[in-house]
Amino acid sequence: MKHNNAIILAVLLFLLSAPATMCHTKSDLIRPHTTVVVVNKLDGERPLKVHCQSHDYDLGLRMLMPHQQLNWSFRNNIFENERFNCSMEWGGEGGGVHWFDIYDEHRDFERCTYCRWLIKQTGPCLCLYDRESCSHWKTPPPVHAAGENSKVRLGV
Ligand SMILES: *[C@@H]1O[C@H](CO)[C@@H](O)[C@H](O)[C@H]1NC(C)=O
Ligand SMILES: *[C@@H]1O[C@H](CO)[C@@H](O)[C@H](O)[C@H]1NC(C)=O
Repeated sequence: MKHNNAIILAVLLFLLSAPATMCHTKSDLIRPHTTVVVVNKLDGERPLKVHCQSHDYDLGLRMLMPHQQLNWSFRNNIFENERFNCSMEWGGEGGGVHWFDIYDEHRDFERCTYCRWLIKQTGPCLCLYDRESCSHWKTPPPVHAAGENSKVRLGV
């Protein structure tokens, strides 16, 4: 009985304090930080050029040597779907620029808070406990560049 009362009191206290901590509810209590790790696992010991960005952050262009990693952490945005897209480039056979959404809250929310991706030629593989979940590269984004450039081309 005493125990039950304590639980009820705890729940009441939580409910009473909820409005004040509303802004932090998801990130602090349910989703602390999400960490994304990108590891160069291309075969042939090739360097990997990675550029990832979200609506708010641009991590810049990074060069990863074989087996080297890049990591970053963020708090999930409670108001909108958090998403980081990356372009990845390497040389040699099957090389070129490839695209992938390395973090998509809708897709990954239930899967990981420590999201470790092994980058292979065939696509990025997410490490899930004892297995890897591999994805395909995204089809290239539409090229807006030409249209935008022609808009700002003056005097033509
Ligand atoms: C993130 O990268 C740094 C520098 O490479 C490394 O020291 C650190 O252990 C990494 N952290 C995680 C969580 O992988
Ligand atoms: C991420 O997506 C945005 C919007 O489609 C695009 O403008 C940007 O170039 C992409 N970033 C990378 C690194 O691919």
